[in-house]
Amino acid sequence: MVRPPVVDVFVTPADREAAMREDVRRGLTARSKSLPPVWFYDERGSLLFDEITRLPEYYLTRSERAILGRHSEDIAAASSADGLVELGSGTSEKTRLLLDTMAARGDLRRIVLLDISEEVLAEAASRLSTDYGVEVRAVVGDFRTDLPKISGGGRQLWAFLGSTVGNFPPTERRRLFSEFRASMGPEDHLLLGTDLVKDPDRLVAAYDDSAGVTAAFNRNVLVVLNRELGADFDPDGFEHRAVWNAEHRWIEMRLRSLSAHTVHIAELELDVAFRDGEEILTEISAKFEPEGLRHELESVGLASAVTWKDPAGDFMLTLARAAA
Ligand SMILES: C[S@@+](CC[C@H](N)C(=O)[O-])C[C@H]1O[C@@H](n2cnc3c(N)ncnc32)[C@H](O)[C@@H]1O
Repeated sequence: MVRPPVVDVFVTPADREAAMREDVRRGLTARSKSLPPVWFYDERGSLLFDEITRLPEYYLTRSERAILGRHSEDIAAASSADGLVELGSGTSEKTRLLLDTMAARGDLRRIVLLDISEEVLAEAASRLSTDYGVEVRAVVGDFRTDLPKISGGGRQLWAFLGSTVGNFPPTERRRLFSEFRASMGPEDHLLLGTDLVKDPDRLVAAYDDSAGVTAAFNRNVLVVLNRELGADFDPDGFEHRAVWNAEHRWIEMRLRSLSAHTVHIAELELDVAFRDGEEILTEISAKFEPEGLRHELESVGLASAVTWKDPAGDFMLTLARAAA
């Protein structure tokens, strides 16, 4: 019998709006304007991201899927997990490769999906619950703060895929890894998907595709602010830019104002002046070296047990466990 997913809401619409107000006020009144990537993902943003994952230039999803296709058995065996907790789960499409393997081994007991974007989460949870027939919990939450509320029980495999970790600069990444470590039980494992440093031209193309889907995704944050905070951004008045920052080894997605103008954000009673050519930093996507990542994980007590790359060496999955 199929059990419907249990839904826990840790981030209510009111929490979401309060957090967005704070982020937007801070980010758009700073000398260098920025917005955190979490606000891309309303329903349209999640669908656009899903479209990005199928673009010819966006090799990341295909590479990660190739690793999961080849090594799901190794991952399931090495972790002996009987439950999967996916953070920033989105559509959970690639995750099925792991779930199929865990189910075939007779190990799979529970699935927990956590995402800030409720619509996509609810749909993914109900599909997994129908297809796997195990307990499925859908958590509308923020992986930066809500992990203590979902930890505990069995041997969990915490999956943080899709290079989402790259959206955080080193200090925030360290905080995030520490949170993961603190919420993991002694027999739990973390499965982390990271993109690797490579030819900057390929990296830039992956974030500036010829069909303009990434540009639409980037501008969608302005559409979200218009709807949720009563702002009057003209999304077409901003140009999408993807730039390789060689010093920090990350891609920067930016929105560049095409004129000098002022935007009013009604809910914040705030006017934001833009110079012609002024940019908002909307996302970073850090690229990793295997050795550097190993050190980062070790520094918070996570021992990287095994790593796998795709055949082209573009992307890496790391299986880590709490260091003894
Ligand atoms: C880059 S996408 C990756 C999606 C999926 N894991 C994959 O591999 O294709 C990032 C996902 O994380 C979610 N997300 C972003 N920030 C979040 C946060 N602070 N807490 C929870 N989910 C978040 C987004 O809604 C989106 O589904």
